[in-house]
Amino acid sequence: MDIGLLSQSAAVYSTKRIAEEAEQMGHYIEVVDHTKCSVKLGSGKPKIYLVDEDITDEFHAIIPRIGANVTRHGASIVKQFELNGVFSTARALGIVRARNKVRTLQIMSRRQIPIPETLFSVNPDNIEEQIKILGGTPVVIKLQEGTHGLGVILAETKKSAKSIIDTFYKMDTSILIQKFITEANGEDIRIFVVGGQVIASMKRTSPVEDFRSNVHRGAGTASVKISDKEQHIALEAAKYLGLGVAGIDLIRSRKGPLLLEVNASPGLHGIETTTGINVAREIVRYVEKQSRKKR
Ligand SMILES: Nc1ncnc2c1ncn2[C@@H]1O[C@H](COP(=O)(O)OP(=O)(O)O)[C@@H](O)[C@H]1O
Ligand SMILES: [Mg+2]
Repeated sequence: MDIGLLSQSAAVYSTKRIAEEAEQMGHYIEVVDHTKCSVKLGSGKPKIYLVDEDITDEFHAIIPRIGANVTRHGASIVKQFELNGVFSTARALGIVRARNKVRTLQIMSRRQIPIPETLFSVNPDNIEEQIKILGGTPVVIKLQEGTHGLGVILAETKKSAKSIIDTFYKMDTSILIQKFITEANGEDIRIFVVGGQVIASMKRTSPVEDFRSNVHRGAGTASVKISDKEQHIALEAAKYLGLGVAGIDLIRSRKGPLLLEVNASPGLHGIETTTGINVAREIVRYVEKQSRKKR
């Protein structure tokens, strides 16, 4: 099979691993930097170019690994492949939905998937009420499109929450306010879903001086056994966002697991080294299965 791996760098771990496995399984795989792609619309079939090379009919399937900074363009390229009938491990719409935490939580909430109490607004005139609606401080304030724990702030008092929220509103920065789940204890669960199945999960534990359990913030990782409910949440979330491959982040609260966010291009390094599971191979297997079905 001919596979296009949309990624800005052939040197990053996840890209390397997927390419390696695909080749070992006998496929042709090419890393395509989507930021160097253009699409030509108009007369005839829409054409996709990588710089000046026509790659419209090059691939049976694509695996998008779209970085947070180039989501919009990346999703447009994925959309074009989709419209041209090429199988993608992530739908363009799913990539866009997962990029924004509010959009994700709106969809999760509609599907009755448990999430932390969350509020979004732009109104600087009633911040106190907004905090009160959430049940008071402590609250977590997040950039709607943040990643790696950057732009996730814990405000323990009303005073600090008000000043932080006010600043963001006045700067015209899209945020959300969330109830702080104290009992999560600086831990979260990353569940890796491929093709409607949970294939690996790990627990991440924040460094002592932090509440954020992002690996990029120095969190430690360990294998974890997840409950049926957690498994169900992860599968539903991937399904409703339209993602064949997804990293689902949950925290464990007193009331049970709560979904925090969904990653449409989840990194493979932490999950593979922690669990010893060959996640890259699972992704390629999924592509094989789906493309076979399609043809
Ligand atoms: N409402 C919350 N209560 C407790 N901890 C939280 C809450 N929201 C986020 N966190 C912690 O902060 C981390 C980063 O938040 P997250 O929403 O996943 O943003 P990012 O996209 O930056 O990873 C989470 O992994 C979790 O450890
Ligand atoms: Mg996260």
